[in-house]
Amino acid sequence: MLITGNTRLFAILADPIAQVRTPEVLNAYFAEHHVDGVLVPMHVPADKLSITLDAIRGMKNMGGCIITVPHKNAVAELCDVLGPTAKATGAVNTVRRLSDGRLYGDMFDGAGFVSGLISQGHDPKGKRVLLVGAGGASGAIAFALVQAGVGELVITNRTLSKAEEIATRIKSIVADAPVRAGDSDAQGYDIVVNATSLGMRPEDALPLDVNTIASSTLVAEIIMKPALTPLLDAAQQKGCTVHFGRHMLDEQVRLMAEFMLDTADHV
Ligand SMILES: NC(=O)c1ccc[n+]([C@@H]2O[C@H](COP(=O)([O-])OP(=O)(O)OC[C@H]3O[C@@H](n4cnc5c(N)ncnc54)[C@H](OP(=O)(O)O)[C@@H]3O)[C@@H](O)[C@H]2O)c1
Repeated sequence: MLITGNTRLFAILADPIAQVRTPEVLNAYFAEHHVDGVLVPMHVPADKLSITLDAIRGMKNMGGCIITVPHKNAVAELCDVLGPTAKATGAVNTVRRLSDGRLYGDMFDGAGFVSGLISQGHDPKGKRVLLVGAGGASGAIAFALVQAGVGELVITNRTLSKAEEIATRIKSIVADAPVRAGDSDAQGYDIVVNATSLGMRPEDALPLDVNTIASSTLVAEIIMKPALTPLLDAAQQKGCTVHFGRHMLDEQVRLMAEFMLDTADHV
């Protein structure tokens, strides 16, 4: 692509930065959609996050930025305006710079996951879902699953208090949300989602006992590498339909790009 004086700037802020794939996928999206923009990696440590965001407020040709580990919660505190999902989850993964310099943040991890499920023909509406893990990704996914109208959502986690916190937080926003913390017995669920980091390394334990998963259950991952995690492998061997982590990212990319490129000066 040719960068000119008209090209809009976008960035991904992370620490570390070398592992991020966002520049490749977002720049490919820009090329495919004829967007005169470029997204660059910015290696920003936590103690320089605030000053970096201030600099972005001052850059009139900056369109926005993607936020990833470890800054998602801190950026929610530092944005000037938050979208509904960022307010609900206390985390931001995408920021749009409004024309007056204010930073508008929202969170698309959960929407990306649900959109990915639907794109593969697995609408979670009315379904019983077991969500394993209670970190940042799980909180966003839980909220999005509730918004998508799941019949029941149980969150289980090694540290159960974190699952309880997510359920309480969601209920403070959606009072009748069918969500609670519970154990990891997967019997009776339509969908099981692994939102822990277990499965990224070959020596990792399985996130739950696969013997409790019925062959009729859809087993979903959010881990992208390896594509076939030990959990998905075991589930496939039981005859379960499996859903890969890349579907979440594919949909997130579209949602994040659309959010940053939106020219509406909301709020
Ligand atoms: N596909 C995508 O687009 C996408 C997007 C975001 C994240 N992800 C992936 O999602 C995973 C989680 O990300 P995150 O940001 O939510 O991470 P996080 O906030 O660090 O949460 C990690 C979760 O994994 C659990 N966990 C870690 N080690 C464990 C162990 N040894 N035994 C049992 N549980 C363990 C943690 O349990 P405790 O609470 O007990 O520590 C926690 O629930 C990562 O693999 C990340 O790459 C994918």
